[in-house]
Amino acid sequence: MDFDGSQVLIGKGAQADVFRYQGYAYKVYKSSYPAEWIAFEKDQQRAVNEAGLCPIRYYDTDDAHIIRMDLIEGEVLEKKVREGYIEGFGLLTSAFRKVHAASVEGIRMPPLIATAGMGLSEEEKDTIFPIIEKLSGKYPSCICHLDMHFLNIMLPSDGSEYKIIDWMNARIAPAVFDYARTYVIFDEFSQEALAIYKQVIADDIVALGISDEDFQDAVTVCAIIREREK
Ligand SMILES: Nc1ncnc2c1ncn2[C@@H]1O[C@H](COP(=O)(O)OP(=O)(O)O)[C@@H](O)[C@H]1O
Ligand SMILES: [Mg+2]
Repeated sequence: MDFDGSQVLIGKGAQADVFRYQGYAYKVYKSSYPAEWIAFEKDQQRAVNEAGLCPIRYYDTDDAHIIRMDLIEGEVLEKKVREGYIEGFGLLTSAFRKVHAASVEGIRMPPLIATAGMGLSEEEKDTIFPIIEKLSGKYPSCICHLDMHFLNIMLPSDGSEYKIIDWMNARIAPAVFDYARTYVIFDEFSQEALAIYKQVIADDIVALGISDEDFQDAVTVCAIIREREK
């Protein structure tokens, strides 16, 4: 497909640029990005559409490296938080609760254990698999977004509810992994944000019965997986 020059860059990720064009958002992946992963991302989006977790639909284009998406007119929560909107942290916790409360009945989404070992060394696998198994035996599994941060939550300008985007990493796993993944992300870029994050999730972690040790184990798993992504 060809853009006619009226497209506007509205977002940038590690693997793709996102443009506003003719009333839609277009995610344009680097040509080196595997087409199967794009197909997987579309399947994931369909699964969360059906689960009622995100109304944004993905559509095929004639280019396997370009996805057309329903456009969210608005801004990423990150921008608001940078401007001092501290309530953004509360939205983040509400987003977690919403995702984790969704039914996993009939959902087509891989469990974390099925993909977590991808690209890891044998030693790393020996570290993460026993932890994932232990925590999966101890806590109920739910949908985990596994990339929940301020750039993946958008605030529509019409004042409607926040939208959670970018479901590529979502897996079925105990909720502790979702909280731990975001912990690792905050730890990378801001100790100040991490300190606030720890505070705002504390009650929910207690309510889920998650011990400090289990949380730390989940952080270990997420840190190893995150390192591989770089
Ligand atoms: N449907 C959409 N409508 C409007 N903006 C979007 C949409 N999807 C993504 N964006 C913007 O593009 C950015 C990158 O998109 P995202 O799907 O998160 O890609 P990545 O996987 O590269 O992080 C987002 O942070 C957001 O600013
Ligand atoms: Mg993103």
